Amino acid sequence: MKIRPRRLRKSAAIRKMVRETQVATSDLIMPFFIVEGTGVKNEIASMPGVYQLSIDNFIKELKNVAASGVLGVMLFGVPDNSCKDAHGSEAYNDDGLVQRAIRQAKPQFEDLVFIADVCLCEYTSHGHCGVFTGGDFDNDPTLPLLAKTAVSLAAAGADIVAPSDMMDGRIKYIRKVLDEADYTMVNIMAYSVKYASSLYSPFRDAAESAPSFGNRKTYQMDSANAKEALKVAAIDVQSGADFIIVKPASLYLDIVAKVSANVNLPVVAYNISGEYAMVKAAAQLGWIDEKRVVAETLLSMKRAGASLIITYHALDYAKWLKEGQIEQ
Ligand code: PBG
Ligand code: ZN
Repeated sequence: MKIRPRRLRKSAAIRKMVRETQVATSDLIMPFFIVEGTGVKNEIASMPGVYQLSIDNFIKELKNVAASGVLGVMLFGVPDNSCKDAHGSEAYNDDGLVQRAIRQAKPQFEDLVFIADVCLCEYTSHGHCGVFTGGDFDNDPTLPLLAKTAVSLAAAGADIVAPSDMMDGRIKYIRKVLDEADYTMVNIMAYSVKYASSLYSPFRDAAESAPSFGNRKTYQMDSANAKEALKVAAIDVQSGADFIIVKPASLYLDIVAKVSANVNLPVVAYNISGEYAMVKAAAQLGWIDEKRVVAETLLSMKRAGASLIITYHALDYAKWLKEGQIEQ
């Protein structure tokens, strides 16, 4: 008997029948950067095809999202510099940018899932994710501010809040405060496993949130650690998280796989800005086939065990799939 694994690859139809993994449009979440003003659409230089949008343009763009089959949108606020202060108070202003964006958009797009980032870095004058008074970040004083932000976003209509700050104890704290405010059905998508990556820099251009001093290494994780991912994911599961995010995705697929195997919650891979920038740059140079590279990238994340993927490629992928330019 000849051993012939190739029999399962002999035609396009058979290959399609035996595909173990698919990336559906409904697996994808599209991030947006919201700025003040009207008619604003600023392309991010390091993220071609991604824009800072004013609320009116964001709402226009949601029509495309709804038509594409992408179900989730994730909102980051990029307030004017004049709104930033040491305590990030604009983050928990009920009339803040993201609060207004959700309040206006949600009633028009009831079927979309609005996911609001919860962090202080876009709102603090120093650009760090927590408040800072003494020699280190004040972990515990940051928690009520994050919780206030979460409640304010829930009140505006956010379906899911997504804390990305990496302070200890925030999931438990936010869950408790949301419940006390009667937002028991608002989900928490926790950035449980977030590494101190060098690939966030295009995002920091987009969100204007680069720290003005130091780095984020005392709160984001060391790239060398895998066991720690299981430790922090377990804490967030215990603390009432509904989804666990692993971030970045491409260079951390081992982590996506480990966390997925160990956690009974949907795992979300964040295909971050630097991953996007590298693909776009190589594609612009004509060195890679963008559509195939994107499809293969997203597939790798699903194959590693992610249930959902946050990706700036979401709308492109949906379009290419619809047009038959790539295979699911
Ligand atoms: C900060 C935050 C970051 C991202 C989302 N929220 C990065 C950072 O630590 O500056 C990165 C997302 C991306 O790179 O696409 N709370
Ligand atoms: Zn932050």
